[in-house]
Amino acid sequence: MKVEASAPGKCILFGEHAVVFGQPAVAVAIEQRIQVSIEAIEGEDWKLEGMRFDPKKHPHIDTLRHRLWPSEAGAPALSIQVNGDIPRASGLGSSAALSVAASAALRAARGRWLTEQGSGTEMWAEGYASTINDTDAYGSNEGPKVGLRPSKVQHKSILCSGVEAVNEDECALLSHAVEASAQGGRASPMDASTCAHGGILLLSDVIEEDANHLYQRQLEMSDATRTWQLHELTVPKGGDEVYLVIGNTGVHAPTSAQVAKVARAIERNPERMKEIETIGVISRRGILALKQGDFEAVGRAMTENQVMLQGLGVSCPELDALVRAAAPSALGAKLTGAGGGGCMVALTRDPKATSEAIELAGGRTLISTFGNDGLRVEMAQGVPFWSPA
Ligand code: MEV
Repeated sequence: MKVEASAPGKCILFGEHAVVFGQPAVAVAIEQRIQVSIEAIEGEDWKLEGMRFDPKKHPHIDTLRHRLWPSEAGAPALSIQVNGDIPRASGLGSSAALSVAASAALRAARGRWLTEQGSGTEMWAEGYASTINDTDAYGSNEGPKVGLRPSKVQHKSILCSGVEAVNEDECALLSHAVEASAQGGRASPMDASTCAHGGILLLSDVIEEDANHLYQRQLEMSDATRTWQLHELTVPKGGDEVYLVIGNTGVHAPTSAQVAKVARAIERNPERMKEIETIGVISRRGILALKQGDFEAVGRAMTENQVMLQGLGVSCPELDALVRAAAPSALGAKLTGAGGGGCMVALTRDPKATSEAIELAGGRTLISTFGNDGLRVEMAQGVPFWSPA
C-alpha cells in the first residue's frame, strides 16, 4: 500500500501582497517540485520522515488529516515521506506544493464515493469543490467531524480510488484553506491554485477574456470578504525563448509575518491602499503584455512592481542586491513571494549570464521555464487503504 503525489513550486510575475486585497496577479509553476509519499502503518501514531508526527510543527498536514483522513472512521495511521528540490520558506510555494501533493495523496489513498459512474462533481457523493457550496474546507479542526461530513447526496454507490479520485480544484481549495489558517486568516488562493494546476495562473477581480476561467474563490478576512476569479493562461508565443532565473538570498522570512506587516501598514494609514491599487495597475499592464507575448514589456512591469514592493517595505537589502545584479542581462527582475528575504526572479533571454551575475552577488540560483506541470499522482498501489463508510 503506497501512494505518491507531487506538485510544483511557483514563482510570482506580478501582484504579490496586492492580490491578498483582491488585485490582479500572475504566477507560474516552476520546474522544481515536492513529492509526498504515504504508506499505511500499524498502531495509532503517525510518522513523518521516520519520526513521530507532531501536529503543532506540521499544521498543514494536520488540517488535511482532519479533512480527509478521519481515524474515527477507521483510517489507519500513516508514515509520510517528503522529498523535493523547492527550498523551504523562500517564496517559492513550498508549503502550498506540500499541501497540494499531500491532499492528492490522501484523496488517492482514501478514494471518493460517487453517486454514479462519471467524472464531474455532480456525480460526487462527498468532497470539496468550488461548485459545491456546502464545503466546510475553511472551518476549524475543532468543528464537526469534517472528514465524516455527511453528503447532501445520500446514496453512495461507487467508490473510485487512485488517480481517478483526485481532483485539482479540491486539492487547491483544501490547500488554500490550509494556507489561510497558517497566515492568520489572510491568504490569496494564488499559491495553492498554481501548485495544483501548473502552467500560468491569472487571478483577477473580474472574469478575463483570452483566458480559461477555472473558478471563483472567496475568503472572509478580518477586514473584508475577498473574491478572486482564477484563470489559466496559455504560454504565449515566444515563451520557449525566455527563462526565469530565481535567486535565493538564503534569508528565511515567514509569509505570515510579511502579510501581517502589509495589513498593519494599511490599517495605520488607509491612504496606503493607493500603493496596493498601483500594483494592481502594473499587474494589468503586465498581464496584457504577457497575453501579447511582449516579454520586454512583461519585464518592465516586473521591474516597476519591484519599486512598489520596496515602497511597501517588503523587500530587503539582500533581495535588492540580487535584483540589481540581474538587471543588466534581464528583461526585468523583482522579489517573488512574500519578500523580507527568500527569492527574487529575473525574466531573461540569457539565463547563463543572469544566473552568473546573481551568483556573483551572493545568491543561489535555479532556472525554470514557463508552463510546467501541476499536481501529479506518481504511484497508487493497494488503494483504497481503507473503506470509508
Ligand atoms: C505569497 O507567495 C504571496 C502573498 O501575496 C501572499 C498570498 O497571496 O497569500 C504575499
